[in-house]
Amino acid sequence: MKIAVLGYGTVGSGVVEVLERNQEIISQRAGDVIEVKYVLDLRDFPGQKIQEKIVHDYDVILNDEEIEIVVEVMGGVEPANTFVKKALLAGKSVVSSNKALVAKCGADLLKTARSNHVNFLFEASVGGGIPILRALESSLTGDEIEAVTGILNGTTNYMMTKMFYEGADYEEVLKEAQANGYAEADPTADVEGYDACRKIAILTSIISGKMVDFEEIYTEGISKITVEDMKYAQALGMTIKLLAECKKEDGKWYASVAPCLLGQEHPLSSVHDVFNAVCVRGNMLGDAMFYGSGAGKLPTASAVVADIVAEVKNPHTDIMNFWTEEKLQLEDRLTSSKRFLVRMTGVQAEMAEKIREDFGEVTFINPEGIQGEFGVLTSVMTEGEYEEKAKVYPQICHMIRVEE
Ligand code: HSE
Repeated sequence: MKIAVLGYGTVGSGVVEVLERNQEIISQRAGDVIEVKYVLDLRDFPGQKIQEKIVHDYDVILNDEEIEIVVEVMGGVEPANTFVKKALLAGKSVVSSNKALVAKCGADLLKTARSNHVNFLFEASVGGGIPILRALESSLTGDEIEAVTGILNGTTNYMMTKMFYEGADYEEVLKEAQANGYAEADPTADVEGYDACRKIAILTSIISGKMVDFEEIYTEGISKITVEDMKYAQALGMTIKLLAECKKEDGKWYASVAPCLLGQEHPLSSVHDVFNAVCVRGNMLGDAMFYGSGAGKLPTASAVVADIVAEVKNPHTDIMNFWTEEKLQLEDRLTSSKRFLVRMTGVQAEMAEKIREDFGEVTFINPEGIQGEFGVLTSVMTEGEYEEKAKVYPQICHMIRVEE
């Protein structure tokens, strides 16, 4: 089996390394020897072994009938989409780790793959090395999946962990995550939640069977989370995590990405560092959690190689067969209910009565070492109700949602 790899960056070089290091066991499992014949990259790698496989012209790959699988690990929507589509139309299966591409063009590429009797596989696009798409697509097929809640971005989880446990500075931990190769080329995609948004869009599309427009998912990142917020979380016996969620309630679909407070009993509260985890709730299964390395060269490459093996073992089988182009209607986040932690500047004793009048049952929080402000933990209300009440409080300096 001869394959081509598009892009020799972090993931591309990882794929070549995994195939080389585990060659024997992979061949055994796939029932064939997998050989990287070409690597497409704009750059040359003089003096390195990979140079003999480097090509700069995509047509060389496209026109080579020996190439049965194209591995797209370039990132970004274009030219990846054009390259992938051409490969599928040429009768080559494609394996991709590219969440931006899958979130935007997944349904269309799956349709193209299907009509050309090949596969478009993208396990590595969500949760790095965790086999979550495989679980949803081929293991949990007896269940209606009612909710998926995940920590889907390694960079921000690494940052939140360091900020929570070490009081570490935001900028410093971001630099560490970049140095470790976890962050996106532009880390705004990590810290503003865009990366997690694309991943939850893919998961929502898979469990609903319909196309989710990721731009319709409410997305808030961690760039406003401070060490002071962590102190409030600690005072509550909770932690803060960037959660990506989708759920179906009374036939309505909700999806969001936002930093949330989690109690210690929540299974995601103990997911630290660069690890990702996904909690899945099925109507028969109940709860299950998938946990593992969510970012980094070799974990991501491991998921890419698993897709290559799946394709080698099941050529011309429609593996990812439930995700249509019909659009999924998402509900407005203002109708979803939760509790809120609200930080307010001012003197609690002077404001407590009015706060109780407006918000009803609340708990006040006063973390040690925080001056000139206090926290209010509300009861359950809709986001719309919260926003209405919050309008008359210019003293609110931050709000964080509570995940139950
Ligand atoms: N930047 C991403 C993360 C890489 O930190 O999770 C994996 O998608």
